[in-house]
Amino acid sequence: MSLISSIFSSIRVPTVKELKKNIIPEHVAIIMDGNGRWAVKRKLPRSAGHKAGVEALREVITACVQLGIKFLTVYSFSSENWQRPKDEVNFLLNLFLESLKEELGALNKNGVRVFLIGDRKLIPYKILEAFENAEKQTANNTKLFFSIAFNYGSRQEIVDAARKIHKAAERNDIDIEKLDEKTFSDYLFTKECPDPDFLIRTSGEYRVSNFLLWQIAYCEFYFVKTLWPDFKRKNFLKAIYYYQQRSRRFGRL
Ligand code: IPE
Ligand code: IPE
Ligand code: MG
Repeated sequence: MSLISSIFSSIRVPTVKELKKNIIPEHVAIIMDGNGRWAVKRKLPRSAGHKAGVEALREVITACVQLGIKFLTVYSFSSENWQRPKDEVNFLLNLFLESLKEELGALNKNGVRVFLIGDRKLIPYKILEAFENAEKQTANNTKLFFSIAFNYGSRQEIVDAARKIHKAAERNDIDIEKLDEKTFSDYLFTKECPDPDFLIRTSGEYRVSNFLLWQIAYCEFYFVKTLWPDFKRKNFLKAIYYYQQRSRRFGRL
């Protein structure tokens, strides 16, 4: 980065105090993309990018707590990501195991509650155990509800909800004629959370890649070229600043 552009971008990063306290999104969702390209740019193996991505996430979680954001949902591994080379998948699985263990103390200290969203039936036992242990250990924390989308696919989530609703109707637990959006949402993995207000995707891709399709009906989108491992506290504050300039109308005037 040249001196001029670095001065320019540093001027534009707001401090926490400069952000409007009354326009903080309640729920931020992030598609953390670009780890591989970050590593390739540095002539490193893709795994180094995933490792560096954990650092970026740590900073963003801390910033969320500081700003009073109540819900953070991150896309960490999609149901389609199993199709990647075995080595990369194995590396990612080990990284999840290690990170969940290593970060648990800091998450608890910051009042962060961990929650897994994704199809639990298809998650290898050791990984599921680590997620469920993190959920248990952080269950009483109330500052930030931190959902990790792992083995997550939004279309699969919606089909799964339809299946569960059908079964509930068969048991006469719900009246299918009275099924509404609120009840439908209660059958999604995200039932504990309000819909996201703000969706960030890093790495310059302009797509949602099967993430929270139902939940983002009225979400504000923010697509940024920065690769995920470079997306640090200042990038996040800048993103929130842009969110605060948006005019949300929900179809009204
Ligand atoms: C996001 O980074 C992390 C996962 C999908 C697990 P990528 O691994 O997709 O990085 P790029 O998009 O190839 O650069
Ligand atoms: C989406 O990124 C999934 C995660 C960030 C975990 P991908 O890199 O898998 O998405 P595509 O393939 O570019 O759409
Ligand atoms: Mg990618």
